[in-house]
Amino acid sequence: MLKRVICVVGARPNFMKIAPLMRCLSRSRVVEPYLLHTGQHYDAAMKATFFEQLHIPEPDEDLGVGSGSHAVQTAEIMRRFEPVLDAQTPDAVVVVGDVNSTIACALVAAKKGVPVVHVEAGLRSFDRDMPEEINRVLTDQLSDLLFTTERGALANLEREGIDPARVHFVGNVMIDTLLDNRQRAPSVGEVLAAGGVADVPSDRFGVVTLHRPSNVDDVDTLGRLIDTLGTLSAELPLLFPLHPRTAARLESAGLMERARAACVLLPPLDYLRMLGLLQNAIMVLTDSGGIQEETTAMGVPCITLRENTERPITVEAGTNTIVGNDRARILGAARDVLRDGGKAGCIPELWDGHAAERILRVLEDWFRAKQ
Ligand code: UD1
Repeated sequence: MLKRVICVVGARPNFMKIAPLMRCLSRSRVVEPYLLHTGQHYDAAMKATFFEQLHIPEPDEDLGVGSGSHAVQTAEIMRRFEPVLDAQTPDAVVVVGDVNSTIACALVAAKKGVPVVHVEAGLRSFDRDMPEEINRVLTDQLSDLLFTTERGALANLEREGIDPARVHFVGNVMIDTLLDNRQRAPSVGEVLAAGGVADVPSDRFGVVTLHRPSNVDDVDTLGRLIDTLGTLSAELPLLFPLHPRTAARLESAGLMERARAACVLLPPLDYLRMLGLLQNAIMVLTDSGGIQEETTAMGVPCITLRENTERPITVEAGTNTIVGNDRARILGAARDVLRDGGKAGCIPELWDGHAAERILRVLEDWFRAKQ
């Protein structure tokens, strides 16, 4: 009998991680995947285009939870996930990353005695002000099998009392997706034309993404960041695809016009268009976790507008520089890149496009050992 595995997705960064896993798991003779979308992200630009472009099968179930406060969103996912577990009686639940859907489904499964498998385990920013850090720590505590993307993650897990026998260093499924799709990304010219952008040279621009509460929720911080980007854009045109959360904050803070004067604003981009921009950018300024990894994998300089990172390999081996949201540090790092091209970086160990295959092998062995 095939082992039924519920694979959970909820928010945009989950989609890039689940795509190669679903592909591998559906070819297995041991495992049968069942795809569950919590509905945390629901707009076409935040969900449907990713499913189409990454050939993710339609979810077997969509819980349709939508947006809400952390408590409401997490509780609603839990409430709606429980009957799915009861009906499907899976042999394991696979969760990826660190979003609210990850912890919510892990918690429901663990309390029902269903083994939890966490992909992208052991990353720590040591900053509990980030909701994702809380999700990471708790999900790892609840997990039976933990798959890590960088070697340092094991020490974080051991420090928290997790048995190293449950931890497997397999590489990075998001980089599987990146390497699979790089060739399919449209040219910068096509992306700019589709966005109606005429005055940005396709070989000389930076990309900005911002959506962390620490950067966008406080009006003064957001205003200062926009002004800093405005200064930089006199030296390098900046393309800024807006996350819905950021767009809402700019509107409510009355900062949209200043943002439009500082950068070329774009709607949220689909995966391939974003990839087309990222891989050709002179530099990327971001507070995203995933983009720190994607830029390292592509050798593109990344300036991270946060005080810390849970992905230290991108700084130690990759192209990432952490600068926080201080104006002088941001401009200093950006001008370093403009002057000498920034950190060269190298590709982290096992970021080779085969992480999902390694995960499947471990999972199959684990099921066989339990029989
Ligand atoms: C979530 C994740 C974050 C991840 C990010 C990537 C958590 C705690 N946070 O943050 O780790 O980096 O996704 O995008 O899980 N909205 C829409 N349409 C959508 C989804 C959201 O308009 O399809 C708007 C809503 O106003 C919503 C806001 O964005 O309130 C925030 O969405 P939410 O899922 O709560 O968190 P993100 O900021 O997207």
